[in-house]
Amino acid sequence: MVTSHRSRVVIAGTGSVGAATAGAIVLQGLCDELVLINHNPDKASGLAMDLMDGSDYTGRFVSIRRGDWADCRDADIVIVTAGPKPKPGETRFQELGAAIDIVDPILCAIRDSGFDGILIMVSNPVDVLSWFAWKRTGLPRAQVIGSGTALDTSRMKAIIGDITRLDPRMVSGYVIGEHGDSQFVPWSTVSFVGKSFTQYLQDNQSRYADITLDGIEEWTRRRGLLIKSLRGGTSQGIAATVAGLARTILWDERRVVPVSTLIDGEYEYDEHDVFLSLPVALNADGVGDFVDLHLDESELSKFHRSARIVREHCAMIADRL
Ligand SMILES: NC(=O)c1ccc[n+]([C@@H]2O[C@H](COP(=O)([O-])OP(=O)(O)OC[C@H]3O[C@@H](n4cnc5c(N)ncnc54)[C@H](O)[C@@H]3O)[C@@H](O)[C@H]2O)c1
Repeated sequence: MVTSHRSRVVIAGTGSVGAATAGAIVLQGLCDELVLINHNPDKASGLAMDLMDGSDYTGRFVSIRRGDWADCRDADIVIVTAGPKPKPGETRFQELGAAIDIVDPILCAIRDSGFDGILIMVSNPVDVLSWFAWKRTGLPRAQVIGSGTALDTSRMKAIIGDITRLDPRMVSGYVIGEHGDSQFVPWSTVSFVGKSFTQYLQDNQSRYADITLDGIEEWTRRRGLLIKSLRGGTSQGIAATVAGLARTILWDERRVVPVSTLIDGEYEYDEHDVFLSLPVALNADGVGDFVDLHLDESELSKFHRSARIVREHCAMIADRL
């Protein structure tokens, strides 16, 4: 007899980001079963039907339905995208008070279901909420991640792709730290078509006279705000990113990706009890080995600044634990 494991992904919160993430997962046929939970159950039912209606044209059949917290028990991945609708002009930290009121009961329900898979936090401020989720659920550190700067890294690559008119996937490197204003690019980690990106720019100075590393970093940092001002919010980029993380976990792809993870004394990063993004090996068990990026002094000080900012905001909600 064939024994098969039915992979299940649960998405909690089916607003713009949750719905787009569900779409990305279904179109790629990443799991066997997708369960949608929303505090307005009709919205989850409607989205499930809407997604099902494309079944004849997707790569693979995915069973899709509205569910409830009990469905988390046997889930491989739970993705939390519930939160207050981000307002144009508002920073992610300004969402914290409203976000914790929404996310805390959801985390309690996930914990009480007996869930023992990988929890992916997407709601903002994502580093603070990932730390809170780790504490609240009691899951092992390897099983709690935030989407973190996986999105910002993809944004940085998209911007370089746009500038050079080459495939963004030719870029290797990371945005690290907070998913927010203090994020940064350690440029020494960024390579492109077989050389450092810094070297690539120098080699093509006349073609890219107006392009600087600082400029690319700032465009990357501001990209979310720009999209919000243009179309009211972001959803497609984060959806592709989260689906990519889910694929890496479900298919045990063992990619090295920058996600928000508990930092606990690794290498020279020298931080504890804080969630920030660093490149880590991600596989079916969650977060594995860290990569030692050998940050220079100025990069380390930027990393510590991110840690300080995130930790200060964690302190504001610590009394809820
Ligand atoms: N990490 C990232 O890179 C990233 C990118 C974009 C958005 N986000 C975050 O994702 C979250 C959702 O953004 P969105 O644009 O989809 O917002 P949205 O308003 O479209 O959707 C919010 C969802 O939260 C649910 N919700 C609201 N109040 C609730 C409550 N009291 N209990 C349970 N569920 C509740 C809603 O039903 C809805 O499903 C926000 O926190 C946003 O900041 C994160």
